[in-house]
Amino acid sequence: MSAAVIPFEPRVEPVEGPDRDLRGEEEIRPPFTLVIFGASGDLTRRLLAPAIAHLLRDGSVSPEFAIIGLARSEMSDAEFRAYLDGGAREFTPPTQGRPGELPSIVQYIAGDFGDAGLYGRLKAAIDAIEGKRGGPKNRIFYLATPPEADPAIVNLLGEKGLARPEGGWARVVVEKPFGHDLQSGKELNDELRTVFQERQIYRIDHYLGKETVQNIFVLRFANGVFEPLWNNRYIDHVQIAVSETIGVGHRAGYYDSAGVVRDMFQNHLLQLLCLTAMEPPVAFEADAVRAEKVKVLQSIRQIPENAIDEWAVRGQYGPGVVEGKKVPGYREEEKVNPQSNTPTYAAVKFAIDNWRWAGVPFYVRSGKRLAERVSEIAIEFKRVPHPLFSKAAGTLNPNVLRLRIQPDEGVSLKFDAKIPGTVMQVQSVYMDFPYSKLGAPIQGGYERLLLDVTHGDQTLFTRGDEVEQAWRVVSPILKAWEGHAPGDFPNYASGTWGPESADRFLEREGRRWRTL
Ligand code: NDP
Ligand code: BG6
Repeated sequence: MSAAVIPFEPRVEPVEGPDRDLRGEEEIRPPFTLVIFGASGDLTRRLLAPAIAHLLRDGSVSPEFAIIGLARSEMSDAEFRAYLDGGAREFTPPTQGRPGELPSIVQYIAGDFGDAGLYGRLKAAIDAIEGKRGGPKNRIFYLATPPEADPAIVNLLGEKGLARPEGGWARVVVEKPFGHDLQSGKELNDELRTVFQERQIYRIDHYLGKETVQNIFVLRFANGVFEPLWNNRYIDHVQIAVSETIGVGHRAGYYDSAGVVRDMFQNHLLQLLCLTAMEPPVAFEADAVRAEKVKVLQSIRQIPENAIDEWAVRGQYGPGVVEGKKVPGYREEEKVNPQSNTPTYAAVKFAIDNWRWAGVPFYVRSGKRLAERVSEIAIEFKRVPHPLFSKAAGTLNPNVLRLRIQPDEGVSLKFDAKIPGTVMQVQSVYMDFPYSKLGAPIQGGYERLLLDVTHGDQTLFTRGDEVEQAWRVVSPILKAWEGHAPGDFPNYASGTWGPESADRFLEREGRRWRTL
């Protein structure tokens, strides 16, 4: 008899909400109307459309789900359906199969978000859908809009009585960036809270929807082995990198006044930092998790505006070659001011002044048009206190735990091992866990977050005070840079790893950027 081959089948136990199994169909898959403001935009087509189509294909949302899109562009209902369908097909990676059919009700209303008449037409459309469908009057208002459009939308939703339906719930999803600075972020929070209650507000950061980002919770708090080492006794420093190969694309209208600090640091990168640095929450639920993240943000030392060069470096891409193709510099991109001083790259040192992290710098960098698309968190441990082996055995390297967020998702631990042979020779080796081993395809993040909105679960969304704290952290960087023109832009060629000044910045700290 031949030996049985047992295929590798990891046991995957999903993290369920506390009582999700005990809920009825209406709670698991509630009927609802998704109202998308900014329906003709890039986010809707590239990210929301595929996520919606995947949720429908997987039967995760009620088939009684309806979509109403709003934007300025003129489109018929059929054209809007084709726009979403096209986005779903184009942006569903081949590994994820076919995207799935859109719901039977897809409507589009053209108009300006500042025009009160638009909300009358919206109300009539919602009432008609809810009247025909019967059951609870559940509504999600998704603001896939430039931040300056948000206050008017929120106000008018309130004025028209759309935010508090009788016999159902209303939830509002607000895209990042949440405001333009601390002041406008606060004002937007105030505006939202006059119309909605905090439990109705979902400030979305799609990084929190990524599987590998959620895995930071699991890696840290479901395993006993890492947590005892997760502090300044054992960790030398942390590096967080989000490197992109894409340029600004067609988004200059937004990006040229935002730049990398507002676009990436205030939200995605600070969220990665928070999850890496936070204390264990008392429970895996919204307020407990968010309270711990707020404490991390509160502990980040205020960067002195007048000594910014000791804490941060900025860059802007020039022309170059990315993935074998010649690409223009930022200042030559469509709709970018040819004298623009907007940074497309930044590297920042954050100091977290608390017991766990005192003395452990967090080096965080992100840029567009870099050599490769990679996001990762690297925890570099301290070296052994005394080198036991002779120099001839080789240089001993610090252990590094890398959490690869994307692509090539996984976790890897670097440690030194003896090379087989009669002499003592030491070399770095890696213990690798690739996510692909788990079999299930990794989705984009929006699927999970949209589903959480339908379930009323705010754990993976940012709270009002958290967003304000994040603005407080980045404000000195913005002020220092916006007050002083850089003088040397563009300072890195597209297709490289960023400005040389970023390398010198870390060398001054006695460290080097990790190879991504
Ligand atoms: P776009 O510029 O592509 O889309 C903006 C949308 O808003 C368009 O549908 C536009 O309508 C509509 N719009 C703007 N102002 C008005 C107005 N006064 N009245 C009516 N419609 C209006 O932006 P994105 O889709 O890229 O981004 C939207 C939001 O999502 C931004 O806050 C962005 O930061 C955020 N985001 C975007 C991501 C992305 O990858 N695109 C990723 C994460 C967040 P029309 O064009 O018809 O005039
Ligand atoms: C968005 C930024 O929030 O995130 C974009 O506005 C950026 O500029 C994008 O490209 C990166 O997201 P991802 O999921 O591709 O890493």
